[in-house]
Amino acid sequence: MQTDRINILSESITIAVTTLAQELRAAGKDILSFSAGEPDFDTPQVIKDSAIKAINAGYTKYTAVDGIPELKKAIADKLKRDNGLDYATNQIIVSNGAKHSLFNLFQATIQEGDEVIIPAPYWVTYPELVKYSGGTVVEIETNDSNSFKITPAQLKAAITNKTKMLILTTPSNPTGSVYTKEELIALADVLKGTEVLVASDEMYEKLIYNGEFTSAAAISEDMYNRTITINGLSKSVAMTGWRFGYLAAKDTSLIKSMKSLQSQSTSNICSITQHAAITGLDGSADKDIEMMRKAFSSRRDEAVDLFNAIDNVSVMKPDGAFYLFVNISKIEKDSLKFSKALLEETGVAIVPGVGFGTDGHFRFSFATDIESIREGISRIKNFISKNY
Ligand SMILES: Cc1ncc(COP(=O)(O)O)c(C=O)c1O
Repeated sequence: MQTDRINILSESITIAVTTLAQELRAAGKDILSFSAGEPDFDTPQVIKDSAIKAINAGYTKYTAVDGIPELKKAIADKLKRDNGLDYATNQIIVSNGAKHSLFNLFQATIQEGDEVIIPAPYWVTYPELVKYSGGTVVEIETNDSNSFKITPAQLKAAITNKTKMLILTTPSNPTGSVYTKEELIALADVLKGTEVLVASDEMYEKLIYNGEFTSAAAISEDMYNRTITINGLSKSVAMTGWRFGYLAAKDTSLIKSMKSLQSQSTSNICSITQHAAITGLDGSADKDIEMMRKAFSSRRDEAVDLFNAIDNVSVMKPDGAFYLFVNISKIEKDSLKFSKALLEETGVAIVPGVGFGTDGHFRFSFATDIESIREGISRIKNFISKNY
């Protein structure tokens, strides 16, 4: 019954693992889940208060498709203040989460046969959405030895006359790698003189533990012109369920096309979320953001040490986000087999690396309490010593 187009899509492996863990838990099993891609913290009270105020003030109706003017202004101000980027409000569109922003972007820019460069390991959604848009995925492999970051030489070798776009995720899901300003400048040099667009996914921008965050579009005028900046509030202020994301681009006609698509599909995002998002963006929640960042940072330190103390297991200390991409290739190349057996035997849920395009690894989210992290890693250690 279904179209060929829809059959291209496979279910997100992260959601599949999370669902399986939830089912096992509902069946009474003692499950510790490290698979979720969301903070364990609640949305800051100051943001909730804005939402409640918006409901009581009657902001409960349709709004402009691309977001209310006050929200778009708050986004423009944030991009200027935090990222040094100048975007006017007609260069910004608000969507139902950054995932939706990316969906709209690929639909609006990718033609049949266009190549899209995706560094692996990648966030599971990119290749699926690119394929759904008719594009061809070109992966660039990275590994622990280059901190899971692509090199200028790799980028150069991957570009052909069909290359439409490079997707950059900094900080990365699933590895937590962060590109330095110098590394971005070197990649930008390779792109000079080409027509390659850059989709810069900056969702984890606020979760940096080492060094500074640099936006790809802030590198140079050339990069500003070719980069589409994608961001949101799901990770930085624990608003995953509210569904808010945005995209900024120099080309106003691109924004217009995405607005047309959105107007005929989902329309505006939730009117109440829009009011809450202003509070998430304008600095009112900065203290909460810093509290969460600090908590993630100390969990990261402890979890990295615990994993690196397991024989034949290693993990890079990530500079950002809240994931560890644990290397188990010395003991098991098949990450799906490892993850399933681990879940069944020990009740520990992690996400197999194969879902991110890199087998022999798994993703461990440390967006959970430290006691669970200690217990989970201890169970993983015992599982490995028993089975390998
Ligand atoms: C790298 C990256 N980009 C985008 C998203 C989408 O976030 P949302 O749709 O909740 O805004 C996620 C969520 O997991 C992510 O990890």
